[in-house]
Amino acid sequence: MSFNVSAENYARFMGRFSEPLAVEFAELVDVRAGQRALDVGCGPGALTALLVEQLGADAVAAIDPSPPFVAAIRERLPDVDVRTGGAEDLPFPDDGFDLALAQLVVHFMTDPVAGLTEMARVTRPGGVVAACVWDHAGDSGPLATFWRAVHELDPDAPGEADLAGAREGHLAQLSEAAGLAQIEPTKLTVRVGFTSFEDWWEPFTLGVGPAGAYVARLDEPKRDALRARCAQGLPSSSFEIAASAWCVRARS
Ligand SMILES: C[S@@+](CC[C@H](N)C(=O)[O-])C[C@H]1O[C@@H](n2cnc3c(N)ncnc32)[C@H](O)[C@@H]1O
Repeated sequence: MSFNVSAENYARFMGRFSEPLAVEFAELVDVRAGQRALDVGCGPGALTALLVEQLGADAVAAIDPSPPFVAAIRERLPDVDVRTGGAEDLPFPDDGFDLALAQLVVHFMTDPVAGLTEMARVTRPGGVVAACVWDHAGDSGPLATFWRAVHELDPDAPGEADLAGAREGHLAQLSEAAGLAQIEPTKLTVRVGFTSFEDWWEPFTLGVGPAGAYVARLDEPKRDALRARCAQGLPSSSFEIAASAWCVRARS
């Protein structure tokens, strides 16, 4: 999945969820002053910015294959070493980091086991390798209402449930296949507020991620039908969505 979208549109669609998730994820991995951290699949920098706050820009590196995201994070965090590239072939030497983290990325990797193996390679022995992916296979991901409505109208439509790490236990299996040790699975939940149904729906029309790509392919009547079906499942006034992600924290 390529993310050839602006950082602003990403922020309106997924950043609303990934910013609060980054707070929970950083807490889970127990980021401590003095550590060096790598943010793999950093996007526009939700997690990277937190790592910089806690560790300082000199101690943080980030990498992402999306040119607009790399440009945006370089502007946001000019003192961070930001590279363009994928997890499967990290341009960093062995054992250089205490932490290698991938927030909402494993399910987009071409080869998740290779990506996690690379994360372990660049992390010192005993350092932390951690990843999280939304619970797209269950009913507790941030896009559950959307994909449910899609499949009611179009049972053959693609979805995100089958992606790597999106079901319970799968991140742990991938971590084991990547040779990681002391694998601890857990689930993190964040709550995000919306002022109205329109506030929730409009970001789906921005073309971001698999959900945005699906909406972009629909003609107007089908898009209206999907919008109406989603509206049936949500309040019209302000509401909150609880969104959960499967996580693993492991050791290199
Ligand atoms: C849902 S976004 C998550 C971005 C950021 N980590 C966050 O939490 O907001 C997924 C990111 O994974 C990146 N990505 C896709 N394939 C990748 C790969 N093979 N290796 C590393 N990152 C990848 C995308 O460019 C995108 O920035």
